[in-house]
Amino acid sequence: MDNIVTVDGPSGVGKGTLSQWLCNKTGFLLLDSGAIYRALAYGSIVEKISETDIDALVTLAINLPVSFYATNVLYDNKDVTASIRNEETAAIASKIASITEVRTALLERQKSFYNKGSGLVADGRDMGTVVFPKAKVKLFLTASAAERAKRRVKQLKSQGVDAILTQITLDIEQRDERDRTRLSSPLVPASDAIIIDTTYLSIEKVYQIAEKALWDNGILK
Ligand code: DC
Repeated sequence: MDNIVTVDGPSGVGKGTLSQWLCNKTGFLLLDSGAIYRALAYGSIVEKISETDIDALVTLAINLPVSFYATNVLYDNKDVTASIRNEETAAIASKIASITEVRTALLERQKSFYNKGSGLVADGRDMGTVVFPKAKVKLFLTASAAERAKRRVKQLKSQGVDAILTQITLDIEQRDERDRTRLSSPLVPASDAIIIDTTYLSIEKVYQIAEKALWDNGILK
């Protein structure tokens, strides 16, 4: 078993907040795998690579100039934290993430974030199933699409971005459908994952459930 906590689930379910909290609690490093897919989408826009040009996307994925500095994401040493979070990049990321060759090209890169000495919290869609199947604790968060859209609109508004709930709900449902039904690493809980439906839970309650799993599995002592 590896000293890893995986946090998987659909978009807008609160994985990022929980993962950050778990890092603070454990002192583990963070892998935000979604940021890697988003950085690839960002790169494809910059390099004018079409979503259907698999060879060019794979080449870019292998050489992706992405790095992390604290919670910031750098592309070619430029801070792209805010630009990779917009809806356009998210939609492209979701499309190119369904290409098997792209996922394979990013696999080793993601695995390399784990180093036995420091432990890892890995946030994504297939962390517990494909990238880190030997993780000690696997959490899978869910929430209804309506609730996730509500949370996303609140988040966008707090950033001064105008958002329409019906459009965001539709975007989330389309992305969910693509993530769940793709052939390669579809969004499914690992058979040994703890599933937490957060629709009606406060964030504190989610933390409590996750913390208990860490104690039960010897990550917290
Ligand atoms: O978690 P996120 O919203 O930042 O992820 C952006 C996109 O990347 C999302 O549509 C799904 C995809 N993704 C993935 O396929 N596998 C991962 N491990 C992480 C993200």
